[in-house]
Amino acid sequence: MKMVKLAILIATIAVALFLILPNLSWAANEGAALYQAKCAMCHGADLAGKPAAKIPSLVSAGTKQLSDADLTDAIANGGKDKKASHAFANKGVTPDQVKMVVAYIREAQKK
Ligand code: HEC
Repeated sequence: MKMVKLAILIATIAVALFLILPNLSWAANEGAALYQAKCAMCHGADLAGKPAAKIPSLVSAGTKQLSDADLTDAIANGGKDKKASHAFANKGVTPDQVKMVVAYIREAQKK
């Protein structure tokens, strides 16, 4: 009897992993899509920013040092200065979507 329960447990975990893993990579893809739709026109498709227009790179050494919380705040609330023009939480971007964009930026910073 115990073995059967164990087998069911293992099967359940296997199914759960099978369901969760594709969703994780899907989240990164959605982050990329969101970035391209809402950020790329300013920060560039390659995240390098536009120095001439004073738009910061998101893959610079300085941005790499920002914590996830700082990045999230910059995107959702306009950062320390609370720039309304940069507060995407007020522009229909959900907290989950902000997380996905942060994940996308972190991935790009590793390259
Ligand atoms: C209209 C142009 C524009 C758009 C669109 C835009 N940004 Fe920005 N972003 C800026 C500018 C300009 C700054 C510099 C700070 C400031 O003056 O607001 C900035 C700053 C930032 C910072 C802080 C960087 C640092 O080193 O402190 C992050 C992170 C950021 N943007 C991410 C994003 C993300 C993610 C999106 C899309 C959801 C986005 N931005 C969309 C123009 C833009």
